Amino acid sequence: MSWRNDFADILTEGRDLAPLTYYRIGGSARWFFEPEDAATAARLVASLVAEGQRYRVLGGGANVLIEDGVVHEIPFIHLGHLNQLHVDGLDVVAGAGVGFPRLVRDLTADGLAGCEGLAGVPGHVGGACAMNAGGRHGEFGDVVEWVELASETGEVIALGRDEVGFRYRGTSLPPGLVTAVSLRMKRGEASELRAFSGRVLKEKAAVQPLRLPSSGCVFKNPQGGSAGLLVEDLGLKGLRAGGAEISALHGNFIVNHGDATFADVVQLIRHIEAEALSQRGVTLEREMRIWPSEGF
Ligand code: EPU
Repeated sequence: MSWRNDFADILTEGRDLAPLTYYRIGGSARWFFEPEDAATAARLVASLVAEGQRYRVLGGGANVLIEDGVVHEIPFIHLGHLNQLHVDGLDVVAGAGVGFPRLVRDLTADGLAGCEGLAGVPGHVGGACAMNAGGRHGEFGDVVEWVELASETGEVIALGRDEVGFRYRGTSLPPGLVTAVSLRMKRGEASELRAFSGRVLKEKAAVQPLRLPSSGCVFKNPQGGSAGLLVEDLGLKGLRAGGAEISALHGNFIVNHGDATFADVVQLIRHIEAEALSQRGVTLEREMRIWPSEGF
């Protein structure tokens, strides 16, 4: 475990994870690393991988469910310090740790068009890039020019958008951590962009349970269909397990009423998956990540 000493200056031993997640669920991380820059992140992952050590990258905590009541021995890496946002004309470089809502707000306020339809996307820029976050008004990958990656070989590399392989809620990035993204924006009118973002947020607030903790959509939409509509058709909306509930508002959200546990949420996810398969022959694919303390 040479990484323990080599990176002691960016290591916190024992860090509560729940406050770092939108779900407000999760145990603690025995090893919690917060690199100050991309080069350190690259050296860290290379060092972990060289010793056969798996790791987890926690972004803004928007799309993840972490096991609670346990100490996670798998090291966590958090890029919250990489939160610089540089704007130069139409070119933008955003660190992985920039909050996505801040990105949308700042760019629209500057009259930079391209991200206004992504209002309401939670989390950090790094996760939004790796997952190609989006919705009915576009996807983040649409505006990304290149991605900076801390690779498992210890280098910081730049990948052009064609090499990133953006697809619906995914990418083909090589192993490593997204540390920054560069965006190519268009010139727009700040007031119009802001108004459009406002409409997108309103649209979401009307159909999504945004007042309660959740991880957003649990499942990717099946080809040509809607996971939320499928859950509704199966009659599962409003179903509860402990403090967790399949939202009565939107079937693809599972909300935390305050005291939901990891097991409660997992129970509902498994139930939806089993019903979708047995009743409709549909294999739902998870969009959110589930991180038990052991295994992947
Ligand atoms: N619908 C229902 N009942 C439900 C849920 C949805 O009938 O309980 C219907 C809606 O009426 C609509 C259709 O299903 O006709 C699609 O629903 P919606 O417009 O809410 O969009 P979605 O496909 O469920 C997608 C993204 C969201 C994003 C919204 C809006 C996925 C899995 N989800 O939702 O992203 O916010 O569009 O842009 O692609 C996320 O990724 O975490 C997420 C929330």
